[in-house]
Amino acid sequence: MSVSSLEPGRKNPAPSIGRSTPWVLVLDFGSQYVQLIARRLREAGVYAEVHPWHLEAEAVRALGPAALVISGSPASVGGEGAPHLDPAVLGLGLPTLGICFGMQAGAHALGGSVKKGRTREYGRATFRPDRECPLFRDLPDSFRAWMSHADSVAELPPDLRLSGSTESCKFAASWNAERKLFLIQFHPEVTHTECGPQIFKNFVEDIAGIPPTWSMKRFLELEIEELRRRIGKDRVLLGLSGGVDSTVVAALLGRAVGDQAVAVFVDHGLLRADEAEQVVEALGKVSPLRIHKVDARQRFLRRLEGVVDPEAKRRIIGEEFIRVFEEESDRLGGFRFLAQGTLYPDVIESAGGPGAAMTIKTHHNVGGLPKDMRFELIEPLRTLFKDEVRRLGIELELPSELVDRHPFPGPGLAVRIMGPITEPALATLRAADKIFIDGLRRKKLYHKVWQAFAVLLPVQTVGVMGDERTYEQVVALRAVTSQDGMTADWARLPASFLGDISTRIVNRVPGVNRVVYDISSKPPATIEWE
Ligand code: XMP
Repeated sequence: MSVSSLEPGRKNPAPSIGRSTPWVLVLDFGSQYVQLIARRLREAGVYAEVHPWHLEAEAVRALGPAALVISGSPASVGGEGAPHLDPAVLGLGLPTLGICFGMQAGAHALGGSVKKGRTREYGRATFRPDRECPLFRDLPDSFRAWMSHADSVAELPPDLRLSGSTESCKFAASWNAERKLFLIQFHPEVTHTECGPQIFKNFVEDIAGIPPTWSMKRFLELEIEELRRRIGKDRVLLGLSGGVDSTVVAALLGRAVGDQAVAVFVDHGLLRADEAEQVVEALGKVSPLRIHKVDARQRFLRRLEGVVDPEAKRRIIGEEFIRVFEEESDRLGGFRFLAQGTLYPDVIESAGGPGAAMTIKTHHNVGGLPKDMRFELIEPLRTLFKDEVRRLGIELELPSELVDRHPFPGPGLAVRIMGPITEPALATLRAADKIFIDGLRRKKLYHKVWQAFAVLLPVQTVGVMGDERTYEQVVALRAVTSQDGMTADWARLPASFLGDISTRIVNRVPGVNRVVYDISSKPPATIEWE
C-alpha cells in the first residue's frame, strides 16, 4: 500500500487536509531519517508528506506540492537495484532540497559524477557554508553538521555551484539559483546538526516562498470542515480504547458531527486505576459525542482464567475485544463509517515499496478492528505525528494529564501481572501503580521518563511487619527513558524518591511486602515484562 496510491485509486478516498495549504513533498529513498525530515518541515510551519521514491514526475506534479525534498538513502546512486531519481522531477520547476543521497542523485542527474566511498563518514563534521547561498542565510561562518555517507560527489556539473565544504568532503553543498535546486551532503533534520531548523526555514520561507501557516489550530479548522462534508447526515462508529489517539479522534468527531458519532468503549477491566472514568468524563466535557460503555470485565476475566503465557493473553484479549466491539456495533446498528486513530508513522511504514523507509512493527493495539470492512474508513489522524496528535488534543480542550500520558499497552495490566490474571491481582497492581505514578507526577518526574509502571510478580517472599512474619508478594517498579520505545534505558530516578514509593506501597497495598526496581535496558530486556 503506498501513501500516494491511498488517495486517488482508493475505494474510500482519504483526502489530505494539509495539501489544501502550500505543502512540501518529501521523496523517500529509504533514509532512516525520512520521518524526521517531514517533522522538521512541519515544525517550520509547513505541511509535509512523505511519498515513495518511484513516484513519477507527472504524479508529483499532479499532487501539487509547492516544493520538494529528496531524502537520503542507504543505496548508492546507480547501484544495482538501487532506487533512482526520475530526472524529470528536477525539471518540474519546484524549489528542491536534496539531502545526502538526494545531493548525489541531484548532481548525477545534472551530469556530475559520484564516487563510491570505501569507508563511511559517520558523525559530526565542521561545515563551512558560502553564505551567498540563500539556504545558508543568517548562519554562522561554520557550524557542526551530521554526516552519514560513504559515497560523495566527485565532480560538480557546470550547472551547479559549490556552496560549502567540510574538512573531508569538498563538495558538501551546491546550488543552482535558477532551478532553485539546493543540495547538501549532511543531514539538517537530525538534532546533532546545528542550524538545521534555520536551514529548513530558509528553504521553505525564503526560497520556496511558503508562509509558515501550518499549525494544529489550522488543521483542526480544516479537518472539521472536511469531516462534516464527508460524513453528511450519516453515522460514525469509533472504538475507544482509552489511549490518546482514539480519545483525540473521539473529541474531534464530537466537535465535527456531534451525536452522529458514537464511541464504543469496551472496558476489559485491564485498565489502570480510574482510567476508564477519566476518559469518559474528559470527553463528556468537551464533546457531545455519544459514549457507549460496555462493561466486559467479567467476560475478559473468564476467558483469561488460568492463562499464563503472555502471547496467549495478548491473543485472547485481541480476539475478545473485536468480538465485543462487533456485537455492540451490530446492536447499535446503522453506521456507514468507522473511525480509527491511525497515525502517520504507521502509514509511512506500511507504504513500503522497494527502497522506502521500513520499520518492523511488533505490536498491534487491541483497538485493531474488523478486517472485513463493511464500513468506510475515517482516519482523521493519518497525516499526523504523535506529538501533533497531542497538540491537537489540547486544541480540542482535552486535559493535558490525559493527552500527555505515557504509552500503555493494548492488553493493559494483563501483561504486567506475571502469571494468571485474577481480580485480587488486578486490585493489588492498580493500587501499587497508582502510588508510583501519582508520586512521579507530584515530584515532576512523570514527563522526564518515557514510561513508568508497576509489575506484579508471581512470587512470595518473607518479610517482617510489626512483630510478625509476613509471606507476601513482590512488586517491581519499571521506569525507562526512550525516544521511540524501540530502545530504552532504565531511568535514574532519585534513590530517595524510590525509597519513599517503596515505603508507601508496602504500607498501603495489602499483600505486598517487598518492592524492587528494574535496572535493565532494552535491549536485552524489553520495556514491558511480558
Ligand atoms: P516492549 O515491551 O516491546 O514495548 O519493549 C515497547 C512499547 O510498546 C508497548 N507495548 C504494547 N503496546 N500492545 C500495545 O499496544 C502490546 O501488546 C504491547 N506490548 C508492549 C510498551 O508499553 C512500550 O511502550
